[in-house]
Amino acid sequence: MQNSLDTLSQKDITIQPIKGSDTIPVRHAVLRQGKPIEACYILQDDLSNTYHFGLFYKNQLAGVCTFVADQSPLFKDSNQYRLRAMGVLEEFQGLQFGKLLLTHGVNFLKSKNINKLWFNARIVALNFYKKNGFETIGTQFNIPEVGPHYTMHKSLK
Ligand SMILES: CC(C)(COP(=O)(O)OP(=O)(O)OC[C@H]1O[C@@H](n2cnc3c(N)ncnc32)[C@H](O)[C@@H]1OP(=O)(O)O)[C@@H](O)C(=O)NCCC(=O)NCCS
Repeated sequence: MQNSLDTLSQKDITIQPIKGSDTIPVRHAVLRQGKPIEACYILQDDLSNTYHFGLFYKNQLAGVCTFVADQSPLFKDSNQYRLRAMGVLEEFQGLQFGKLLLTHGVNFLKSKNINKLWFNARIVALNFYKKNGFETIGTQFNIPEVGPHYTMHKSLK
């Protein structure tokens, strides 16, 4: 039988703050396949106001996401954060792990009085983010070597 969140034991799933360096294997596997490991780092990874979260299934890191302070000129809000490098290992995709991670991050940012969360989403992930309450703004654009994207956002107020 295929796994679903219902058939996985909830006590085996934990979400914890992690270090930027901890995210690298998952980023490499799902977001930068075939690229050098250096391509997996984000400039703001080690800043004190950057937050990384990991979802662990039975103590194995299965998914990661990173939130960095970043003001987009597209929005008037103060205290904006940007989601970076959200990824769930292929064998764990479709189990609601992405949704759990993103919800955890959003709730954390709300507790820090962040007003807006935005990011550039790959086309393949658009519906995932729409299902999590985010909407697109503007037109599609291309990120070299990664592909077509839309900017997406949600108010956290
Ligand atoms: C996109 C990603 C983070 C989603 O995580 P996930 O754990 O697989 O997604 P979930 O199981 O939490 O899905 C939540 C909902 O979104 C839907 N969904 C997930 N991925 C989707 C996709 N690629 N396209 C359409 N819908 C998707 C699910 O069907 C589910 O809907 P439901 O609640 O109605 O059942 C993950 O699939 C991934 O890492 N993909 C490769 C890397 C990537 O593209 N990252 C995003 C960069 S912007």
